[in-house]
Amino acid sequence: MELPFAESFKIKMVETIRKSTREEREEWLKAANYNLFNLKSDHVFIDLLTDSGTGAMSDKQWSELMLGDESYAGARSYYKMKEALKNILGFDHFLPTHQGRAAENVLFSVLVKEGNIVPGNSHFDTTKGHIEFRKAKAVDCTIDEAFDTLIDHPFKGNLDLVKLESVLSTYPKEQIPMIIVTVTCNTSGGQPVSLANMKAVKELANKYEIPVCYDSARFAENAYFIKLREEGYQDKTIKEIVTEMYSHADMATMSSKKDAIVNMGGFIAMRDKQLWKEASTYNIMFEGYVTYGGMSGRDMNALAQGLDEGTEFETLETRIKQVEYLGEKLISYGVPIQMPIGGHAIFVDAKKFLSHIPKEEYQAQTLGCELYLEAGIRGVEIGAILADRDPETRENRYPKLELLRLAIPRRTYTNNHMDVVAAALKNVWDRRMDIKHGLKIVDEAPIMRHFTVELEKVE
Ligand code: F0G
Repeated sequence: MELPFAESFKIKMVETIRKSTREEREEWLKAANYNLFNLKSDHVFIDLLTDSGTGAMSDKQWSELMLGDESYAGARSYYKMKEALKNILGFDHFLPTHQGRAAENVLFSVLVKEGNIVPGNSHFDTTKGHIEFRKAKAVDCTIDEAFDTLIDHPFKGNLDLVKLESVLSTYPKEQIPMIIVTVTCNTSGGQPVSLANMKAVKELANKYEIPVCYDSARFAENAYFIKLREEGYQDKTIKEIVTEMYSHADMATMSSKKDAIVNMGGFIAMRDKQLWKEASTYNIMFEGYVTYGGMSGRDMNALAQGLDEGTEFETLETRIKQVEYLGEKLISYGVPIQMPIGGHAIFVDAKKFLSHIPKEEYQAQTLGCELYLEAGIRGVEIGAILADRDPETRENRYPKLELLRLAIPRRTYTNNHMDVVAAALKNVWDRRMDIKHGLKIVDEAPIMRHFTVELEKVE
């Protein structure tokens, strides 16, 4: 008999989570103004809001915490992180930051100016926020296949080279500070970018003399998909694939809360010493001195260890197989999800799920609330609320995809939890026609409204 798959870890420490009643959840959700970010985590049974900073560190990472050097300048921990970045990503220069958006803030303070154009593949919301805050524009050049959840394309994170070249040839190079390649592409469904596409993007970038920046939050998951899906990479190690990926990048921003499996941390990495110098000034102002920049020594140690573990095939296989396990259950129940199943999350197609609710009533947010009411499971809306208003016209932007993301934290839940999630979503699917109305916004922030938006039920 062929042996079944099993996780490449065993569990040394556990954290209690509690169920609640539907009546309790109704009360809590109303008090949270139908914004799942406002819920207390104690009121959530299975928390799939994000896979960011919510993973379980390994015994080796916890040991590294004890070895942290907390010196203000020149700490051993800084050099440990520097070595890990050099060995794994191949960059000579870096700046630690407290998380990914801080890396964006520092880097974009140097590079992005009013009126600039920043092409990329479905920029993440904080990335777009930092671009738009500087009165520049993020242009989405993702391939069209990404916007049809039924198309089973192996690299739905790819940039459309025709769309990209049209941007690069329309504006002068002084107006385009960089091309951002997000690996994997979170917003389009945790979908990977192929190495062939990365290479082609770099060739175009070279032709127009524009630097390429990788938004690296889930770079290791991207490498895993390349190994599985791209011709010629089956026999390469994840680390070899990562090295090749970054040979096509000039710089990188990283939220280490994802594939480096730490609870907090980030960095900017670059080849250009001059850029490092300019960014250092902002790092010192916003984050901290160049050898700690918003991170404690122990956290830099855990990050260095996490980068090493996170780029091991077994770690990635265990993780991505769990996402697949949930995805396949949902498919067998007929629940519409983004295909193929992505790296860090299942993206439920709320436009198809609640096709009888108008988009103006926020289908994905409505579905997220219903799933919470069903079983205390928290996902996150990747739809019209997240897409925000157009900064110029102030009109609501309705994105092509309206998704409920169920992000799976690394090494945190078991497949029994995934079974509960699948069953709960099936129950909502079966009673979907009883959901008559969606939600309306009663209060929102001028930018990145999804975190704090207040909603109420449309009666
Ligand atoms: N880039 C990508 C692709 C991301 O997914 C995130 C965060 C960031 C940048 C910003 O990093 O949170 O460390 O400041 N994504 C989280 C998520 C929040 O839930 O997907 P950060």
